[in-house]
Amino acid sequence: MICPRHLRVFISVVICILISTTSGRSIYNDYMQQRKQLIQDDSKLRIGGKLVLRSDEKLVSDFFMKEKTKIIESSRQNLTLYMPAVSFFLSKPQIDNSTLLKLIQRMPKGGALHLHDMSVTSLDWLIKNATYRDNVYMCVGDDSLINFHVFKSPPKHSDCVWHSVKDERAKAASVDDFDLMLKRNLSLLATDPLTTYPDNAHIWIRFARYFLQVYNLIFYAPIFKDYYWRTLEEFRADNVQYIELRGAMSGVFDLDHTVHNEEFGVQLYQNVTTEFVQAYPDFVGAKVIMSGSRNSKAVKILDQVKTAMYLNQKYPDFMMGYDLVGNEAAYNPLLFYINELLYPATQSPPYKLPYFFHAGETNWEGTDIDDNLADAILLNATRIGHGYALNKHPKLAQLVRAKNIPVEVNPISNQVLHLVSDQRNHPMASLMADNFPIVISSDDCATWEALPLSHDFYVAFMDMSGEDADLTFLKQLAINSIRYSAMSHSEKHKAMKLWETKWDMFIKGVIEEYMPSYHLK
Ligand SMILES: *[C@@H]1O[C@H](CO)[C@@H](O)[C@H](O)[C@H]1NC(C)=O
Ligand SMILES: *[C@@H]1O[C@H](CO)[C@@H](O)[C@H](O)[C@H]1NC(C)=O
Ligand SMILES: *[C@@H]1O[C@H](CO)[C@@H](O)[C@H](O)[C@H]1NC(C)=O
Ligand SMILES: *[C@@H]1O[C@H](CO)[C@@H](O)[C@H](O)[C@H]1NC(C)=O
Ligand SMILES: *[C@@H]1O[C@H](CO)[C@@H](O)[C@H](O)[C@H]1NC(C)=O
Ligand SMILES: *[C@@H]1O[C@H](CO)[C@@H](O)[C@H](O)[C@H]1NC(C)=O
Ligand SMILES: [Zn+2]
Repeated sequence: MICPRHLRVFISVVICILISTTSGRSIYNDYMQQRKQLIQDDSKLRIGGKLVLRSDEKLVSDFFMKEKTKIIESSRQNLTLYMPAVSFFLSKPQIDNSTLLKLIQRMPKGGALHLHDMSVTSLDWLIKNATYRDNVYMCVGDDSLINFHVFKSPPKHSDCVWHSVKDERAKAASVDDFDLMLKRNLSLLATDPLTTYPDNAHIWIRFARYFLQVYNLIFYAPIFKDYYWRTLEEFRADNVQYIELRGAMSGVFDLDHTVHNEEFGVQLYQNVTTEFVQAYPDFVGAKVIMSGSRNSKAVKILDQVKTAMYLNQKYPDFMMGYDLVGNEAAYNPLLFYINELLYPATQSPPYKLPYFFHAGETNWEGTDIDDNLADAILLNATRIGHGYALNKHPKLAQLVRAKNIPVEVNPISNQVLHLVSDQRNHPMASLMADNFPIVISSDDCATWEALPLSHDFYVAFMDMSGEDADLTFLKQLAINSIRYSAMSHSEKHKAMKLWETKWDMFIKGVIEEYMPSYHLK
């Protein structure tokens, strides 16, 4: 018998001998080696995981990582609220104040591929410019929200009483307060959408209402033209080089009540784009995707599909295809329009109309909305908008990857619309960890006062990529946005060259500004 104290000594000695033997040490070393390899292999799978940075890029990456780690660790270790992941309503002021956002704004981000034409120019411009014009009227609806309209003279008989915005502004005690009131009336961030609206269905009602508030202002031809020019200016200022814009294309109107057709809309977009690229040759350009509404009658969708075919054929490098928009939960699934959507394929010869369907933007698993993903795949979608439900459908996800169908992820939109609360739980984070074909975009950024693209990139970097994901992640997202765009092969090549030049200037600029001593060496 040995007493417990002797037993402890005896065991220690045995362990000591074991560890000091070659075999013990090599088991430990092997284990550590395998562990390192396993973790490395796993992280190499993420978006950007295979990119190798140059030494100057590595310096900038380290600087990004210092900022990223500081923000994450200060919450993690001090048990404070992790702001980058919470409601954008709460986090925006702090994000705006961060060095990291400034860096991301400065970074050339390539293209933004999922955008809607009535909700991408800042509300500030809309209020401070568009509503300052002649013939702009407002009325307050039953729901206390303001509607805007441009009229030569407002209708005498109307449920909603129209007032000239100019007159109302002149009567107001403070012009600034009046303009702020108008802006608050449009913004989804007037109050925290996550606490003001109980769920996705209710925030959708408010969100859809925004389009009715502004439609008859923005679609007035002179405003429409300037609004779009301003869209391009704001995206360029946010260091985005290219956009793809979804819109109805029809409905642009003049003061004499003329309402223009889709072709006019496409031409107008193309003319302004050409003019803009001439004025700013460092901007690659833009393309449009015609979009119908999921609550239309089937016969209307068929008309639109035919129009989209005509326009795609006539403007093949500008009008790139067709999409259906609107709340997937409230309106018709893709299947409802299947004959209309199959129409191009049934022509002889079959016409390949590219589709860019919103699909699976939901938390309702196993419903029609999830099934939209299956239809999008079978209809040979060129890209999928949101695809939020994709990670619940392994077979569909597998197909999307095999067919290399890019998914357009819009993190802030998903949060504002109540699909995800803590952005670290965004389902796309897991697909991004597995180098899924993904681009980051901003959907209706102006409606919730987000920057054209930088805020969504910030959220993707801080919440959807892991603390150890560095500049390679962001660089790959920018590259993806060009690779997965609707540009032709040669356009992509040119866009890539332009982006690379900007990228190198960005790396150089950040080193000069933040690491001047290094630069002098
Ligand atoms: C935790 O908070 C203290 C006090 O504010 C601060 O000094 C420290 O740097 C914080 N820790 C981290 C990891 O940020
Ligand atoms: C912005 O940053 C400055 C300097 O770090 C700090 O003093 C200030 O409180 C911050 N403001 C907000 C709104 O976070
Ligand atoms: C509105 O924007 C247009 C086009 O950029 C510009 O010409 C005009 O002066 C602006 N008007 C106001 C009131 O700012
Ligand atoms: C919108 O404006 C109307 C009229 O001024 C006002 O009654 C309403 O409270 C405003 N709503 C918001 C959300 O600002
Ligand atoms: C666009 O430009 C073309 C060529 O200059 C012109 O014929 C057409 O009318 C313009 N369309 C619109 C809507 O501006
Ligand atoms: C989708 O593409 C496949 C392969 O090219 C083709 O056989 C099929 O007819 C297409 N489906 C539609 C609806 O266009
Ligand atoms: Zn969208």
